[in-house]
Amino acid sequence: MAPNPQRTKLLIDVGLFAVSQVVLWYAFKVVMNHADPQRSKRKESKAKAQETLGTKLGLDLSSLDLTEHEEIVAGEVVAAEDIGVSFKDVGGLDPIISQLREAVIFPLCYPQLFDSAAGLFGAPKGVLLYGPPGCGKTMLAKALAKESGATFINMHVSTLTDKWFGESNKLVAALFSLARKLQPSIIFIDEIDSFLRERSRADHEVTGMMKAEFMSLWDGLTTTNDTRILVLGATNRPNDIDSAILRRMPKRFAIRLPDAQQRRSVLQLMLRDIKLEDGFDLEGLVRKTDGLSGSDIKEACRNAAMVPVREYMRKNLANGQIDVEKVRAGKFDIRPLALRDFFQSDYATVESETLD
Ligand SMILES: Nc1ncnc2c1ncn2[C@@H]1O[C@H](COP(=O)(O)OP(=O)(O)OP(=O)(O)O)[C@@H](O)[C@H]1O
Ligand SMILES: [Mg+2]
Repeated sequence: MAPNPQRTKLLIDVGLFAVSQVVLWYAFKVVMNHADPQRSKRKESKAKAQETLGTKLGLDLSSLDLTEHEEIVAGEVVAAEDIGVSFKDVGGLDPIISQLREAVIFPLCYPQLFDSAAGLFGAPKGVLLYGPPGCGKTMLAKALAKESGATFINMHVSTLTDKWFGESNKLVAALFSLARKLQPSIIFIDEIDSFLRERSRADHEVTGMMKAEFMSLWDGLTTTNDTRILVLGATNRPNDIDSAILRRMPKRFAIRLPDAQQRRSVLQLMLRDIKLEDGFDLEGLVRKTDGLSGSDIKEACRNAAMVPVREYMRKNLANGQIDVEKVRAGKFDIRPLALRDFFQSDYATVESETLD
């Protein structure tokens, strides 16, 4: 039987139409993928999540079954091995560290110990570290990330914001669902006042929705007593934080400017590897640093430690006497640090050198 030319043409037309639709669909997908400004960011956070969760934390990613949004948030998980600060590097905050251990780490990581009293013993839902800048809030959070044993999510607000309407809310939801999958978890939000500040009518709609979603997932209808998620916030403007947020952070630690004893411990920590001159007057330095924050003290120590090095370089480099081989081998004698090196400006150093 001869093929019906009309039928063949129809079949070819249908086939061509189907192929063109498939090509169109793929072309549309590729264009949409390229048009998405977040594409490279998503890819990056996915790779980072795979490295942190899979390689460093040793989790089986396929059994976790992460959604697309959870994968983005997973890029913010910090592995303990990537953190170089531990509690012993924090000076003068021992009472706060031991309270953090007792009230946060133990209930979060060993819930069996606190299994009675109708949920009264459990870990608090939120902890707030507040106080003036440079006194060690972020540092304490870092140490907690290293030593707590819980999954630590260092949540950047920029990751939660997305230009597409509704995406930010999905990311907030993903943050909590991921934290639940990886519990016990600590969600850390540095400078929390900028994200969860007092709600007002002037708020952008998306920001308002994000905050509401955050609060309801944090402590809302579906939150049960066995959820082991803690939100840790740090701020130097506690008064700007929404009162409903403050309620969810019943444990608050004030990290104030260090007193004499705290300054002594911070100085001892910072000068531990530095050669000091005989009879170095640490107490004098403790008095001199009154009113400085931990960060200021660190800067002062850094500047002071540079003075003998600078002196050495000026003396030897100027005469062309520097023995590069010796310096490379670490065999050079820099004079020990003296109290007068502290709080000297560069200009004063030059002057004092020319005077002696
Ligand atoms: N108690 C401390 N012990 C040791 N180092 C400290 C201490 N406090 C501050 N520092 C030093 O100061 C630096 C800044 O501290 P940190 O980032 O924790 O300040 P912060 O309280 O978070 O300030 P901000 O409110 O401005 O964010 C730290 O990296 C650390 O080197
Ligand atoms: Mg900080």
